[in-house]
Amino acid sequence: MTTARSMVAGNWKMNGLKESHEQLDALADMLTTGSEADCDVLLCPPYTIIASFAATSPTRILIGGQDCHTNVSGAHTGDVSAEMLADSGASHVIVGHSERRADHGESSELVAQKASAALAAGLVAIICVGETEAERDAGNTLDVVLSQVAASIPADAAADRIIIAYEPVWAIGTGRTPTTGDVAEVHAAIRGALVDRYQEAGSSIAILYGGSVKPANASELMGVENVNGALVGGASLKAADFNGIIDAYRTT
Ligand code: 13P
Repeated sequence: MTTARSMVAGNWKMNGLKESHEQLDALADMLTTGSEADCDVLLCPPYTIIASFAATSPTRILIGGQDCHTNVSGAHTGDVSAEMLADSGASHVIVGHSERRADHGESSELVAQKASAALAAGLVAIICVGETEAERDAGNTLDVVLSQVAASIPADAAADRIIIAYEPVWAIGTGRTPTTGDVAEVHAAIRGALVDRYQEAGSSIAILYGGSVKPANASELMGVENVNGALVGGASLKAADFNGIIDAYRTT
């Protein structure tokens, strides 16, 4: 049994304008009028609207960034530091998303440095891992995922400051998901690695599943052992869909 607090997190990726506030407001309404969900709720909008989201978000909805630089400040045109995210009102930051690993050539070692910067700024780091379809087909899923976990968590990271998100690359934005058995196998392997590294505290680190989570499959995926929530892309953009995923953590 894990003792991890569950989280449903939305990664808006490169989507969202000022007008998207209406989705934040709608979600806030749904969370206050609906029955209490037994999970944390996080939205990670693009940098441009983090500060305004954080300023108006009810405390029930946490706000996070989608990436950060390894340095606190300096000559890094176009980059954003973890300190800046914290200063804007963010409490969390995603690091090592597969789109960053693929589009920006980010290695697990760089991801660990970003996570370290996040922790130094007082943010919780959501560290993403996941295999490509070719890696799964070659039977290398566990090797790939476990080596990403080992190398992407900074050496000095406290267990209560990190969250792991398992996102099979081939399931992102495709409408395809692994079987619940496959999800259980990977999450159990990650849990084992976390317990090896942190002993008892490793069982309280949330392990999120991400990749085509929708209201229709959320309960089934969230019901898998060692799945402590979801990292949601497309379905987090509309409050009603995101709320439908949060339903997995409501009893009524
Ligand atoms: P989708 O939910 O759109 O598949 O995206 C998942 C994801 O990449 C979240 O970080």
